[in-house]
Amino acid sequence: MQALVFTECGEPDVLHLGDVPEPHAKPGQVRIAVRAASVNAFDWKVRAGLVHGMPKAFPAVPGLDAAGVVDEVGDGVSGVAPGDRVFGLGSRTFARHAVLGMFARIPDRMTFEEAGALGVVVETAARSLDLLTLPAGATLLVDGAAGGVGTALTQFAVARGLRVIGTASPRHHDHLRRLGATPTTYDTGLAERVAALAPEGVDGAIDVVGKGSVPALVGITGDPARVVTVADFGAGPLGVHVADSSLGRATYALAEAARLFEEGRFAVVLDRVVPLADGAAAHRLAQGGHVYGKVVVTVP
Ligand SMILES: NC(=O)c1ccc[n+]([C@@H]2O[C@H](COP(=O)([O-])OP(=O)(O)OC[C@H]3O[C@@H](n4cnc5c(N)ncnc54)[C@H](OP(=O)(O)O)[C@@H]3O)[C@@H](O)[C@H]2O)c1
Repeated sequence: MQALVFTECGEPDVLHLGDVPEPHAKPGQVRIAVRAASVNAFDWKVRAGLVHGMPKAFPAVPGLDAAGVVDEVGDGVSGVAPGDRVFGLGSRTFARHAVLGMFARIPDRMTFEEAGALGVVVETAARSLDLLTLPAGATLLVDGAAGGVGTALTQFAVARGLRVIGTASPRHHDHLRRLGATPTTYDTGLAERVAALAPEGVDGAIDVVGKGSVPALVGITGDPARVVTVADFGAGPLGVHVADSSLGRATYALAEAARLFEEGRFAVVLDRVVPLADGAAAHRLAQGGHVYGKVVVTVP
C-alpha cells in the first residue's frame, strides 16, 4: 500500500511516497482506511533522528493518530463495525491503511480532517490536566497554549470550569481569546504579567513547550506539585509532574473531545491541511515550532 516513508533520518525532504505492506488489526485494534492524519512533535523528532532507538526499522512511516473508515475489526473489539467513521491513536498512520489501538466514533458534524488532528493532543491534554486535579474556578497557566496540545488543553480546562491564562506569540492572542483563555506573551517578565492578570494567584501550571520554563512556573505557583510538564523530561528532580505516557493513557479523552465538539464547546483548530504527497511540507511547518493548532495530511 502507499505510505509516506523515510529510509534514513534527516531533514523533512527525506520523506517521500513509497510502498509498504498493509497492516492488519490485532486483538483490541481496528484497521482503518485512513482519510486524514496529523503531524505530532514526536513524528518530526523521530524523522530528524532526535529520539534514541527510533525508528526501529526502515522504511519508517510517521504518524501516531488518524481518522478514517473501519475496514477490519480485531478480536475482542465490540461496538465498532466495518464502515464506521472513527479517529484515534495508532502507529504508521501516514498511509492508506493504519491500525488504531485507541479509538472513538467521529461525531456526525466533524470532518475527517478535524478528527485526524485530535488523537494525540486530546489524550495528552487530558492526561496532563488530570495530574493537577484542580477544582472548577481555579486558575491554570498553560505555557504554550496555541500549539496542538495547548489548544486542546485550554479547551478541556475551560470546559471543566477553570480560568485559563495561556502564553503564545502575540499573533495568536486573538485565537486564544476565542478558546476562552486570557493570553499573554511567553518572554521575560512572565511572573509579573501573570501576577497582574491573576492577583489572587495561580493554582496550577502546565508546560507544553519544554524550553526551560519549569523553574519559572514553580515560582509562579509556589509549589512544584502544582506544575506539570509534557515536554521537559529532565524536570522530574524539581519535584514537578512529568506527564510521560508510561503513566497510562487517558483513554476517555477521545470521547470527551467528541462530546464537547457536539455541544459546541470544543473547536478543532487546523493551521494547515495538505495532501499526503506533501508530507515533507507538513513536517517542515510543524517543526518550525509556531503552529496554531494542528497540521493535517489527507489521504485521498
Ligand atoms: N508527554 C507526552 O506524552 C507528549 C505528547 C504530545 C506532545 N508532547 C510534547 O509536547 C510539546 C508540544 O507539542 P505540540 O504538538 O503542542 O507542539 P506544537 O503544536 O508545535 O506547539 C508548540 C507551541 O509552542 C509555542 N512556543 C514556541 N516557543 C515557545 C517558547 N519559547 N515559550 C513558550 N511557548 C513557545 C508555540 O507558540 P507560538 O506559535 O504562539 O509562538 C506553539 O504554539 C512537544 O515537545 C511534544 O514532543 C509530549
